[in-house]
Amino acid sequence: MTAELIDGKAFSATLKQDIAKQVTVLKEKHNLIPGLAVVIVGEDPASQIYVRNKNISTKEAGMNSFEHRLPEETTEEDLLALVEKLNNDPAVNGILVQLPLPKHINESAVINAISPAKDVDGFHVINSGLLATGGDAIVPCTPLGCLLMLKDKLGNMSGLDAVVIGRSNIVGKPMAQLLLNESCTVTIAHSRTRNLPEVVGRADIVVAAVGRPEIIKGDWIKEGATVIDVGINRVPKDDGKSRIVGDVEFDEAVKKAGAITPVPGGVGPMTIACLLKNTVTATCRQAGIDEPDV
Ligand code: GUN
Repeated sequence: MTAELIDGKAFSATLKQDIAKQVTVLKEKHNLIPGLAVVIVGEDPASQIYVRNKNISTKEAGMNSFEHRLPEETTEEDLLALVEKLNNDPAVNGILVQLPLPKHINESAVINAISPAKDVDGFHVINSGLLATGGDAIVPCTPLGCLLMLKDKLGNMSGLDAVVIGRSNIVGKPMAQLLLNESCTVTIAHSRTRNLPEVVGRADIVVAAVGRPEIIKGDWIKEGATVIDVGINRVPKDDGKSRIVGDVEFDEAVKKAGAITPVPGGVGPMTIACLLKNTVTATCRQAGIDEPDV
C-alpha cells in the first residue's frame, strides 16, 4: 500500500480563500474589519520569519494587521502594558504574542494577561479550560489545523484509536482534547512512554508532535492508519546543506499508512490559516454575530 498524501498546502489555500470571503461579508454587512495584533520581542530569526508570514497572510485575507516589534531588553512590565492596551483597543480582535519570549519575561504571565476573547493562539488558561470542558474555546492553531485535515480525510472518528506523541501545551495536550471530543480513544505518549512501537502500532490515527527528526519509525505504523506529522526538523545533508524532515520516518511510513501528511507541505501551512480562522471567530464572537457562511 502507498499512502494517500494529505496536501496541507492545497487545504490551507482553500481555507484562506473561504476566510477572505468571510472577511468581505463582515465588511459589507457589518462594517467590521477583523484586526490581528502580533507582538514580537527580540530578534529570534525563526520568529521573525513566522511573524512576517503572519503579517502577509493577514493582509491577503483582507484583515488589518498590527505589528509590534519590541527590543530584546523590553521589561515584562512594558510588555504587559502593551497587552493591556491591545486588550482595550476595539480595532484589535486578536492578539498573538510570538513565543519564545526572552528568558527574563514570564511567558505564562503574559499569555494569561491577554483577554481570553482576543487570545487567537488559544493558549490562555480560560481557553484551555473551555476546550477541556467542551465549551466555546478558541482552539490552538496547529492542533486545529490537524483536526480539520483529519475530519476531511476520515469524517466520523468516533471510536477510533488515536495516539498523540508529545505532551506540550501548544500541540500535544490540546490535540488530545480535540480527538477526545471527537469520541476517539486517545493515548498521549511522550519521552517516558514504554514500548512506543506497540502504542503507535495500535493506532488508527497517529499525531506526531515531538520535535525529533524521524523518531517515529515507518514500520511501527498500523496498516491503513492516518498519520499527521507536526514535526519540522532541519537535518544536515551529505553535501553540507540541510533539509527539513518531520517526526515520522516518511519514506517507510508511506508504505504502511492509509494517508499521511508530508513535511514540508502538510501541517505547516495549516497553522497560519487557522490563525486567520480564529481571528474571524474572535471578531464575530466579540460583535455577537454568527460567522458568515461562505
Ligand atoms: N512560536 C511558535 N509557534 C507559535 C505559535 O503558534 N504561537 C505563538 N504565539 N508563538 C509561536
